[in-house]
Amino acid sequence: MGERVIKWGILGTGLIASAFAKDLAFAKNTEKTAVGSRTKESAAEFAEEHGVSRAYGSYEELVQDSDVDAIYVATPHPFHMENVLACLRAGKAVLCEKPFTINSGELEEIIQFARDQKLFLMEAMWTRFLPSIVKVREWIDSGEIGEVLLVKADFGYRAQWDPEWRLLNPALGGGALLDVGIYPVTFASMIFGTNPEKIQSTAHIGETGVDEQFSILMSYPSGKTATLNGAFRVDLNNEAYIHGTEGSIRIPSFFSARSATLYKDGEEVETFNDDRQCAGYAFEIEEVGRCLSQGLLESPVVPLDESLAIMKLMDEIRGQWGLKYPFE
Ligand SMILES: NC(=O)c1ccc[n+]([C@@H]2O[C@H](COP(=O)([O-])OP(=O)(O)OC[C@H]3O[C@@H](n4cnc5c(N)ncnc54)[C@H](OP(=O)(O)O)[C@@H]3O)[C@@H](O)[C@H]2O)c1
Repeated sequence: MGERVIKWGILGTGLIASAFAKDLAFAKNTEKTAVGSRTKESAAEFAEEHGVSRAYGSYEELVQDSDVDAIYVATPHPFHMENVLACLRAGKAVLCEKPFTINSGELEEIIQFARDQKLFLMEAMWTRFLPSIVKVREWIDSGEIGEVLLVKADFGYRAQWDPEWRLLNPALGGGALLDVGIYPVTFASMIFGTNPEKIQSTAHIGETGVDEQFSILMSYPSGKTATLNGAFRVDLNNEAYIHGTEGSIRIPSFFSARSATLYKDGEEVETFNDDRQCAGYAFEIEEVGRCLSQGLLESPVVPLDESLAIMKLMDEIRGQWGLKYPFE
């Protein structure tokens, strides 16, 4: 069965919206149909730069464009719920940036609405579709490293110090857990599932009132563990390691993985390199096209219940730190 051409709308014109628009050119069966921004100027500039056919000076005009099939939501996290609901009310399929929402209560609401309306909805957890991560899952499933017992994953970098910026601003859902921490939490969940027996965590809450650094230890049945770190004030090595009874896997820059290496008895056995030309978002874009062509309402790779379970884990972790956002 041939795949449909998906006419994309982009909601928001920030950093990740630009990266996504560039990657649309690498994804099969796509058209850059429209962009919506809070201002006409920004929409027009974005459309010009990325070759998008129509530019709207409001999100509402974008969602009402009857030619648009699917909308990519690329606003700061506190606006995801409202923006996703606007898209769904207009009957659009939606791919929403991570984290899907601020908390699991918001996510339950949009999942229920999408299911009631029988509309496609997916979190833009692009890492899950990267060829190196697909390869890693094949190695694990085929028993290459035996029984997996221990996972380590870090994501952190020295962010520019600007209390108004969305990374540090509580009003814009700032904090390392929701921004970078979701990657290691999702990674551990991909390997061990979303039901740890115990979560222990600690965070440094900085002067703006959001977490600037955290460490998490998740314990699973049979003594399996995942240690996960995230930070905004220091550079971490951003690697992930998966250790099994028969071998190990190392993934440099795991959230945007371009390679993965399999080790046995401490020796390198195989290194997988992907030769992609795109930044890495084209794979999730193609997943949406595949799902829509097959009439699926959610992705089997990033199912809604899994996104929800991961959001509940992050609620629990934030709860351990007493971190609530002003609008919660
Ligand atoms: N998958 C990834 O690799 C990745 C990477 C970075 C970020 N993200 C996620 O993508 C989302 C956006 O991040 P970003 O780095 O692109 O943010 P950004 O550069 O600040 O852009 C966010 C855009 O959202 C719109 N917006 C609506 N209300 C806003 C408000 N009150 N304040 C600021 N912007 C507002 C703006 O677009 P208009 O002015 O056009 O309306 C703005 O350009 C976040 O949820 C983040 O977690 C994902």
